[in-house]
Amino acid sequence: MIPPFCLAGTLMMALFLSCLRPESVDPCVEVDPNITYQCMDQNLNKIPDNIPSSVKNLDLSFNPLKTLGSHSFSNFPELQLLDLSRCEIETIEDDAYQGLQLLSTLILTGNPIQTLSQGSFSGLENLQNLVAVEIKLASLEILPIGHLITLKKLNVAHNIIHSSKLPEYFSNLINLEHLDLSNNYIQTISHKDLQVLRENPQHNLSLELSLNPIDFIQPRAFQGIRLHELTLRSNFNSTNVMKTCIQNLDGLQVHRLILGEFKNERNVESFDPSVMEGLCNVVIDEFRLTYAKEFSGDIIDFNCLANVSAVSLASVYLRHLEEIPKYFKWENLTVIRCDLQQFPPLKHPFLKHLTFTTNKGTTSFNDMNLPNLTYLDLSSNGLSFRSCCSYDDFGTSILKHLNLSFNGVISMSANFMGLEQLEYLDFQHSTLKKATEFPVFLSLEKLLYLDISHTNTNIDFNGMFYGLTSLNTLKMSGNSFKDNTLSNVFTNMTNLTSLDISKCQLQQVSWGVFDTLHRLQLLNMSHNKLLILDPFHYKQLHSLKTLDCSFNHIETVKGILQHFPKNLTIFNLSNNSFACTCEHQNFLQWVKDQRLFLVNTKQMTCATPVEMKDSLVLDFRNATCYMHRTIISVSVISVLVVSTIAFLVYKFYFHLILIAGCKKYSRGESTYDAFVIYSSQDEDWVRNELVKNLEEGVPPFRLCLHYRDFIPGVAIAANIIQEGFHKSRKVIVVVSRHFIQSRWCIFEYEIAQTWQFLSSHSGIIFIVLEKVEKSLLRQQVELYRLLSRNTYLEWEDNALGRHIFWRRLKKALLGGRAWNPEETAEEENNQQEATTST
Ligand SMILES: *[C@@H]1O[C@H](CO)[C@@H](O)[C@H](O)[C@H]1NC(C)=O
Ligand SMILES: *[C@@H]1O[C@H](CO)[C@@H](O)[C@H](O)[C@H]1NC(C)=O
Ligand SMILES: *[C@@H]1O[C@H](CO)[C@@H](O)[C@H](O)[C@H]1NC(C)=O
Ligand SMILES: *[C@@H]1O[C@H](CO)[C@@H](O)[C@H](O)[C@H]1NC(C)=O
Ligand SMILES: *[C@@H]1O[C@H](CO)[C@@H](O)[C@H](O)[C@H]1NC(C)=O
Ligand SMILES: *[C@@H]1O[C@H](CO)[C@@H](O)[C@H](O)[C@H]1NC(C)=O
Ligand SMILES: *[C@@H]1O[C@H](CO)[C@@H](O)[C@H](O)[C@H]1NC(C)=O
Ligand SMILES: *[C@@H]1O[C@H](CO)[C@@H](O)[C@H](O)[C@H]1NC(C)=O
Ligand SMILES: *[C@@H]1O[C@H](CO)[C@@H](O)[C@H](O)[C@H]1NC(C)=O
Ligand SMILES: *[C@@H]1O[C@H](CO)[C@@H](O)[C@H](O)[C@H]1NC(C)=O
Ligand SMILES: *[C@@H]1O[C@H](CO)[C@@H](O)[C@H](O)[C@H]1NC(C)=O
Ligand SMILES: *[C@@H]1O[C@H](CO)[C@@H](O)[C@H](O)[C@H]1NC(C)=O
Repeated sequence: MIPPFCLAGTLMMALFLSCLRPESVDPCVEVDPNITYQCMDQNLNKIPDNIPSSVKNLDLSFNPLKTLGSHSFSNFPELQLLDLSRCEIETIEDDAYQGLQLLSTLILTGNPIQTLSQGSFSGLENLQNLVAVEIKLASLEILPIGHLITLKKLNVAHNIIHSSKLPEYFSNLINLEHLDLSNNYIQTISHKDLQVLRENPQHNLSLELSLNPIDFIQPRAFQGIRLHELTLRSNFNSTNVMKTCIQNLDGLQVHRLILGEFKNERNVESFDPSVMEGLCNVVIDEFRLTYAKEFSGDIIDFNCLANVSAVSLASVYLRHLEEIPKYFKWENLTVIRCDLQQFPPLKHPFLKHLTFTTNKGTTSFNDMNLPNLTYLDLSSNGLSFRSCCSYDDFGTSILKHLNLSFNGVISMSANFMGLEQLEYLDFQHSTLKKATEFPVFLSLEKLLYLDISHTNTNIDFNGMFYGLTSLNTLKMSGNSFKDNTLSNVFTNMTNLTSLDISKCQLQQVSWGVFDTLHRLQLLNMSHNKLLILDPFHYKQLHSLKTLDCSFNHIETVKGILQHFPKNLTIFNLSNNSFACTCEHQNFLQWVKDQRLFLVNTKQMTCATPVEMKDSLVLDFRNATCYMHRTIISVSVISVLVVSTIAFLVYKFYFHLILIAGCKKYSRGESTYDAFVIYSSQDEDWVRNELVKNLEEGVPPFRLCLHYRDFIPGVAIAANIIQEGFHKSRKVIVVVSRHFIQSRWCIFEYEIAQTWQFLSSHSGIIFIVLEKVEKSLLRQQVELYRLLSRNTYLEWEDNALGRHIFWRRLKKALLGGRAWNPEETAEEENNQQEATTST
């Protein structure tokens, strides 16, 4: 049994080790799960076993595998690409790749292979591409690949092969298309070396022999051989050797012959035109010459290439090109990076395609006469055009493709007369002059593609694009519009599918600019200065799929969001200056809802308000808006409530004091029996009748009368309340015509009513002094109601009436006052008596 501490120690040791080398557990990068694994430079000396068997692409480069034993890869039957570059492999045993039936590319670059056995490549039933560069291969003979009939490309460059002999097994490689023998040590090519190609004319081989120090090619070595391509660059160390060797290519039939040197591999000091003489006995379709800087000849020296259909000259020092003889059947001519004295005024009947780009020494364009020309690329020459463009410039009326991009100043003073067949026109990064003075493109009804990007054009003329009814693609970024306003320049281009108006400093868009563009699928308005986006502008773009409004100053989208075209699938609103405020919450919510077709939402950030700066638009929470809304409504309601209260307080100020006072006085003893409310007009009656009868009678009552009892210097209203109501048990209201007409009395009376209501005293006693007309009474609704509901005492100026009146009044006043029990009982009886309804 293991002692427990030992077990613990082992565990800890294991833990420690696994911490030390965490990558040893899983050294490979999973580029594409179950498909592509990259285990580059992991110091592996065997193939890691945790790679799934479904792997298709496996990169094991830069690991010291040393030896590939048999069935090394049998765990990976799905493998299609295996990279074993620089794995220090010296030995590949028999059946090393057995089981890789699907492998199509095997890369063995940079392994110092010393031992290859006959079965090293067995089992590779589908191998198409074998890269055996820099494997110290001394000869093609020892490469055991004769059975790889599926092989299409064999690259054995950078080896130590001295012989150009193609082994017998090449007759099996019927699918071989490309053999790269460059950078070896081949010095001679003899007739028998290529015998296998002669015997198997079905071969369509491209043979790359560059950078071999060839000093001798046996005459007729290529006799009877057909190649797709032969490349001989930087092979000869002198003009003489080159001349002899090329002469001895006679009898060869080649689709494309590539001669010349490499930029940094120059052997021939000068490229004598006489070397070309040897090519008269070679059948060539296409000829390319590269890096022949010191070519001291003239185009007539290409005489042997007269029947070639395509000629390409790249980095060739050619002073003159203009005199191409009329019988040269050149249809395609490509001239790139050549030194010329001037722009060649070419005249040639056969030329159909002319590519003339990045050449030096050409500053101004000269008229050409190329009647069969359909394709002309004059880009990147720094050329200026005095008058562009018409039939006279090119001498062709069937030109379809014209590329004048990346040149100098192009003055648009002709209107493409005679060039009506144009379909592609590219002026980008040249400087256009006079392009907006008249409808320059009016005659180009067949034009499909126009690029005037970055041409310094200020579009101030709405008819600029008149006539372009077929145009599909218009690129005009990097220009400007009058007033920085996109104007109605596109109306007649109803077939437009792609429009690029980025970087045009646009600040606004005129109405209806896009209304006729029903086929437009891509609209690029990025890198402008738009402040708002109005969906209405885009409403008519029924086919629009991509809308790029990135890099503007858009704060928000104003208008009806549903007006954006239904078919929109890519909408870029990134890098704008969005205002993330509740005011725009409809838009901000829309952004969240539409994020499926909005691209780069990670770059859709807020610019305002300050606290939201640089946060994502997607992070905007509309909940805060509800909070704001709640806060606003709460405050509005509070203001309303407060002002209502203030108003009520103002209106019922006295009533409130009354309430306050009520609390104070209701418990204390009343000083007066009654407070008398009356009109000053009735003062005589009050003094002579009321005061006399009540204060001097039996029992004596104390009345509160304002002329007598109110405290001088105290506000009348306060007196009314403090002296009148609070200190009185009852209120006597002397109702008369004067009373009703006096606002003051009515006010007092209203207070009295409140007081009555609040203090639940037995109430107000009404004395009707004289008959008041009902109509007058009705003006005081409340009083009228009370009088008609309650009992009141009517003053009658006769002896009996007076007697009854005083008796009833005294009884009413005695109500609620502790006088004596008998009186109280009597009072109750009389109360009923007094209750006479009217
Ligand atoms: C990879 O293969 C394993 C086993 O075949 C499978 O379970 C897994 O789902 C696969 N993973 C992916 C991403 O296909
Ligand atoms: C010959 O091979 C080239 C590719 O190397 C291919 O483009 C061409 O079509 C082939 N020609 C024939 C006749 O098979
Ligand atoms: C050219 O190559 C031959 C054979 O490799 C050599 O003898 C000769 O010196 C070389 N000439 C030059 C000028 O490098
Ligand atoms: C070009 O072809 C014509 C006839 O097709 C022939 O007469 C002439 O010799 C050829 N020229 C060359 C250089 O092969
Ligand atoms: C000429 O060039 C054009 C365009 O580069 C190409 O499509 C055409 O096949 C070429 N023709 C010949 C005969 O090489
Ligand atoms: C121009 O090409 C057409 C057909 O492609 C041909 O018939 C005509 O002869 C050519 N013109 C010249 C001047 O070679
Ligand atoms: C015109 O030439 C430029 C530069 O060579 C190139 O980028 C552009 O694609 C060409 N235009 C067309 C329409 O081929
Ligand atoms: C452009 O279109 C309008 C209306 O579709 C038409 O009246 C006008 O003549 C057209 N102009 C040109 C130059 O084609
Ligand atoms: C517009 O395009 C359609 C289909 O691509 C074509 O049928 C129609 O003729 C074009 N209209 C014009 C005026 O070229
Ligand atoms: C729009 O134009 C800008 C710059 O001109 C470019 O970077 C962007 O890729 C274009 N967008 C689309 C969708 O083509
Ligand atoms: C919009 O898209 C739908 C579905 O992809 C398609 O059927 C319809 O024709 C498109 N509408 C336009 C105007 O292109
Ligand atoms: C606020 O957000 C919720 C959830 O994202 C959404 O359902 C609701 O419609 C939004 N309200 C408004 C007014 O945008």
